[in-house]
Amino acid sequence: MIFNSNTLRNRQDRAAARLNEILAPSDLVLVCAGSPIQKPGGLDQTYSYIPHPSYYWISGRRRVEGVMTYSSSEGWKDYTKPHSPEESLWEGSQPESDAGLDLADLAPVLSNDSGRKLYFLGQPSPALLNGKNVASAEETLQAQIRLEQARRIKDPAEVALIEQAAHIAKRGYERIQAILKPGITEKNLRIEYEAEIQRAGAHGVPYDTIVGAGSNAAILHAIPTSRVIKDQDLVLIDAGAELYDYCVDITRVYAATKFNSRQQALYNLVKSAQAEAISQLRPGLAWSAVHGITARVIANGLKQMGLIKSSVDAALESAAISVFYPHGVGHLVGLRVRDTGHVENRNPQKHYGVRLRVDLNLEENYLVTVEPGCYFVEALISDEKIRSQYADFIEWREVDSWRGIGGVRIEDDILITRDGARNLTDIVSK
Ligand code: GLY
Ligand code: MN
Ligand code: MN
Repeated sequence: MIFNSNTLRNRQDRAAARLNEILAPSDLVLVCAGSPIQKPGGLDQTYSYIPHPSYYWISGRRRVEGVMTYSSSEGWKDYTKPHSPEESLWEGSQPESDAGLDLADLAPVLSNDSGRKLYFLGQPSPALLNGKNVASAEETLQAQIRLEQARRIKDPAEVALIEQAAHIAKRGYERIQAILKPGITEKNLRIEYEAEIQRAGAHGVPYDTIVGAGSNAAILHAIPTSRVIKDQDLVLIDAGAELYDYCVDITRVYAATKFNSRQQALYNLVKSAQAEAISQLRPGLAWSAVHGITARVIANGLKQMGLIKSSVDAALESAAISVFYPHGVGHLVGLRVRDTGHVENRNPQKHYGVRLRVDLNLEENYLVTVEPGCYFVEALISDEKIRSQYADFIEWREVDSWRGIGGVRIEDDILITRDGARNLTDIVSK
């Protein structure tokens, strides 16, 4: 088991308390791990299996088709599918930790004769749902939100894994800094980063590693190419590390040789936006306010650099700032790169031109990324509609002289503490 029994009991108690707010005594919640997904046309090929994070968090298991059940009268029960001889042949024998109650014994518990209402969470198989007395979509959503709210609070075992992942990522970034020079390709940086973190113990990467040199740094999710890095390029690397499904999500921007004055100004601006936001993080602060803090610092800087000609307030209110800062300030992170927070945000509002996927008030032990950015995105700055829409706000002639510089994003993973915040990834040098 990755987590000890005390850790799991604490999680189960916390989740039970939240679920009890809406469950009747006979109701049954099922948190399902899910099954491997077949590749299209792939015969017996599947994508790499990952358990549904809610199941994994509450059970500590990664077992295919595992189900944790909960009712207020019977507490938590843990059903797993015994390994088949086929699995033992192809994948090796069953680890002892995979043994729970036999999944075959779950079927009678779910029969309609029992009259109980069933809340299916996680990744239930269609066969499991078929013809059952299933809670309505809205009731199920309410249960899901409560379970996610419980698991959003990171416990010490989770923080320890994330800190380990941060140390692994640090090794990868050190490798990048050691080999980064004109002549190397974006793709080679990715290969070297990923090899180094694997050597350091990573289980994998939590998302496709992003490397963008020069103008490619303005592609938010740039796929590393065979582009050769030039003398004058800045290089954006957004690369994480994963360990037992826990991860870090980090972005750094380095110079191929030395930043020129414009690159340095852009870098300093984003760095100060990030520092300002991190300094204000604390329980109770609205996530949209965190976005606002970074957007205001960036708008202020762009005004001083002559790129914004309206007032800072007008650049924010009109959403002109989103031409340069076209994404939200961050997201919850930890158990996978997009942790909880999306399902309860059913009607995301735009803040200064961008829709925030997560829009809630911070609480102690939330883990969030803070990743402001400022870019010269060719597709945005060359769009005639955008140019005329923001003609009174943006100094387009000046913007044109910055074309090709790329962009800067700086991203760290921050644990909210009782009275502030702790940066878990600042060990990766900026
Ligand atoms: N690594 C992708 C992101 O920051 O959202
Ligand atoms: Mn991120
Ligand atoms: Mn990232």
